[in-house]
Amino acid sequence: IKKHILFLNFRLSGTKYGCGIGGCGACTVMISTYDPVAKQIQHRPANSCLLPICSLHGAAVTTVEGVGSIKTRIHPIQERLAKCHGSQCGFCTPGMVMSIYALLRNHAEPSMEQIISALDGNLCRCTGYRPIIDSYRSFAREPTCCQLRGTGQCCLDQEECVCSSSTGDQTHSGLCNPEFPPMDPTQEFIFPPELMRMAQEQLRTLIFHGKRTTWISPTSLNELLELKAKYPKAPLVVGNTSVELKKTHHDAYHPIILHPVRIPEMYVVSSTDDGLVIGAACCLAQLRDILMEAVPKLPEEKTKIYQALLQHLRTLAGEQIRSMASLGGHIVSRGSNWDLNPVLSVGKSVLNLASEDGKRQVLLNDQFLAGCEHADIKPKEVIVSVLIPYSMKDDFISAFRQAESQKNALSIVNSGMRVLFSPGTDIIADLSILYGGIGSTTLSARKSCEKLIGRQWNDQMLSEACKLVLEEIFLPSSAPGGRVEYRRTLLVSFLFRFYLEVLHGLHQMVRTVYVLGFNSKYVYAELSQEKMSALVMLPSGVPQGVQIYQDVDSGQSPQDPVGRPIMHQSGIKHATGEAVYIDDIRPVDGELSLAVVTSIRAHAKIISIDASEALRVPGVVDVVTARDVPGENGKDEQAYAEEKVICVGQIICAVVAESVTQAKCGAEKVKIVYEDLEPILTIEVTICLLFLDAIKHKSYITEERKIEKGDIEKGFESADEIIEGELHVGGQEHFYLETNSVLVIPRVEDKEMDVYVSTQHATDVQELVASALNLQSNKIMCHVKRVGGAFGGKITKPSLFAVIAAVAANKTGRPVRFVLERNMDMLITGGRHPFFGKYKVSERRSLADDYFWDRLYIFFILLKIFLTKILLGSGYVKTKFRIGWGKKKGGRFHFWLNLVLTIRQGKGL
Ligand SMILES: Cc1cc2nc3c(=O)[nH]c(=O)nc-3n(C[C@H](O)[C@H](O)[C@H](O)COP(=O)(O)OP(=O)(O)OC[C@H]3O[C@@H](n4cnc5c(N)ncnc54)[C@H](O)[C@@H]3O)c2cc1C
Ligand code: FES
Ligand code: FES
Repeated sequence: IKKHILFLNFRLSGTKYGCGIGGCGACTVMISTYDPVAKQIQHRPANSCLLPICSLHGAAVTTVEGVGSIKTRIHPIQERLAKCHGSQCGFCTPGMVMSIYALLRNHAEPSMEQIISALDGNLCRCTGYRPIIDSYRSFAREPTCCQLRGTGQCCLDQEECVCSSSTGDQTHSGLCNPEFPPMDPTQEFIFPPELMRMAQEQLRTLIFHGKRTTWISPTSLNELLELKAKYPKAPLVVGNTSVELKKTHHDAYHPIILHPVRIPEMYVVSSTDDGLVIGAACCLAQLRDILMEAVPKLPEEKTKIYQALLQHLRTLAGEQIRSMASLGGHIVSRGSNWDLNPVLSVGKSVLNLASEDGKRQVLLNDQFLAGCEHADIKPKEVIVSVLIPYSMKDDFISAFRQAESQKNALSIVNSGMRVLFSPGTDIIADLSILYGGIGSTTLSARKSCEKLIGRQWNDQMLSEACKLVLEEIFLPSSAPGGRVEYRRTLLVSFLFRFYLEVLHGLHQMVRTVYVLGFNSKYVYAELSQEKMSALVMLPSGVPQGVQIYQDVDSGQSPQDPVGRPIMHQSGIKHATGEAVYIDDIRPVDGELSLAVVTSIRAHAKIISIDASEALRVPGVVDVVTARDVPGENGKDEQAYAEEKVICVGQIICAVVAESVTQAKCGAEKVKIVYEDLEPILTIEVTICLLFLDAIKHKSYITEERKIEKGDIEKGFESADEIIEGELHVGGQEHFYLETNSVLVIPRVEDKEMDVYVSTQHATDVQELVASALNLQSNKIMCHVKRVGGAFGGKITKPSLFAVIAAVAANKTGRPVRFVLERNMDMLITGGRHPFFGKYKVSERRSLADDYFWDRLYIFFILLKIFLTKILLGSGYVKTKFRIGWGKKKGGRFHFWLNLVLTIRQGKGL
């Protein structure tokens, strides 16, 4: 359910749209369903941006509006978040509320671990997670007092000695707020009884026909198998987390979709002699809960694969994705860096398949993961369930993943490793090592493992194993995804860690070793402290932190806010979803949506723009280009590209239509003919001599800047030491949670226009729009109620977006809304650009102190700012300077900071 469905059909604007691909949690809603077999209501959080609307038949959807509102009743979750200062721009806040709401509907008194894990999938770019976690700590079953005194007494307890700050003033924590009303579960909405009845009676196949797609939800396995035989190419959509991503990135579309969520066999959970059998439609959160329940009940030696899986299930994505994504979908979609597959494979899991032709079993091995035809499932087959076997006494299984953050980040490299020893010995009987994130599929070090069978588990074996693995799992320097050296290092780092983990495990057992042809009993020595340190897990517990509020002077005027912890004025509105951002403004009469056509060339002449096909798309009203700009077409940058494009992602023209979908469809049909010009790809030639070099071609954004102080020649001549060097600062993307958005409404009188825009620089918007339309500035009313995050990224770019929309509104005479999707925002806005500078500094020591810098001459600093940004993976290169935070200020600030740090480091200061 995309935002515009909730918004246009139900006028619900609380659910936010941050990324559109399940990554930020701003769109979290709660989905409640009734299981007629277990007679249970299930509540789960979900990323609405990935939820197909047809999947919601029979489900109750709770959005933030259903939790509480200023007009009716504010829910304690909303109140506490606002009062504990858990929101700043507030764009992430409804998502945070929904994640915790879904948790509390399932667990009235959750543990802190559950609270943290419920928020795994929610990003906040402004507030910092401490106050957010603090506000929800108050729902935890563990004591919630701030523990500020360390005496177990609450900071608010006046009879105890009062906490004091270094200045002697009284302090208290924001956490121990006596005003919080208790949570009363009886006040929550009940699951609609009609949906309960529907679930019990629902024995019919559901079919939804759309313009392009038919959605079929069968009720029995036989029916599913018949459908799969009839439509072998039709995907089985369960969580839709993988299918939707492919749709977004590769524009894949499916005429038939099968939705197998009403088939009981696909939810089976049973324990057999060989292991646990889990239904393929069970979601990953269910799998986690099943394993968590099973592990303590089983002998430890049987649970090694389950423990390895649990390790990943605690960090994989966020709780929303874990609650949507299914085990079967995870296995079949086989993303190279999906975490569970390498572990399931080394643990020798078995897929129970079914088709019209009957049942069969397939091993989830490396060949299956590589997609080898003979080992794969057939198009007519479905996975009904997965057997995850028990491990054995002489088994060791480990799971590894390295990601940019511990949770909610795809792994850069992951791995599953298993060694089986001959009974009672340290001789390798079987070894499997699989890596994800290296190639396009999960890769196996099969040959290396075969060579190591029969070897003892010792240092020599490890050296050999590292050599073999690096030879077998080859990563060319041009491998997609970059970071080649890092990923190669991870291959052996994981192996080394596995080696130590196994050694540590062997220490706990008595082994038989063969020495000079004799068997002898042997107990492995415990690892040295240094080696043990490699086994320490990253702390994943509850973050600790407390904010202290200092009481203000009793004489301070009640009107004076200084020093008082005052709740954000919009805090409650953020938490109830009633704070209105640009995309939440209700559609105005005659409003059009706008989509842009951007350059796919780095540097090229625009030979022609053919909009004829776009104009034939139903709903498309017009196509707007630079020729339609009556006045100035931008200031530092052109709003619409004129004769040539100077980067990938530069806006060339805009399509305005009655709906977003029609505008996007029209934009896809615009044909542009380019004549390529040579692009400049690097600041200076380093590795690839084929690239043009900005320095050589004097391609600077601004004039060359030099800072010179003192008599340079003399200074260098008399210097005791000269430090000289170069400094590179890489480019960065801005990530405000609310994408760039603008709504332009032409007024009836005097060509005036209202511009509602998410910007940090309203004056610039006003000036640029006025000059683009050849109007006086006072004719342009720029409205900025709030901004959903900006961080400098909304200083200059929104003005250009406003010009784009205003020119379209001027041409059509109708209001125009232009809200960028995340991928377009990332593509079009350039972020903070890379910097390159050269410096030369001389030092003269004082006579008094040999190492004291009595004078630091910065004689010559050359700062060059360049127009370079390489779009990794796409093969295209932007050669344009993109104005980022504080125009060039942000980058310059970073540059100077880095320079000072470099010099300090060099001098050991
Ligand atoms: C934001 C985000 C973050 C993520 N982070 C991680 C992460 O950190 N680690 C990780 O490992 N993964 C991660 N993933 C990937 C996620 O694990 C997979 O997308 C998910 O497991 C796929 O399951 P699904 O039910 O959504 O599959 P769907 O998208 O519904 O289906 C995927 C494919 O599986 C097929 N299929 C589904 N069920 C069956 C069946 N029973 N029989 C035959 N074919 C079937 C479908 O035909 C389809 O081709 C992430 C995904 C997203 C969107
Ligand atoms: S997770 Fe849905 S918008 Fe980001
Ligand atoms: S307050 Fe969380 S993103 Fe701004």
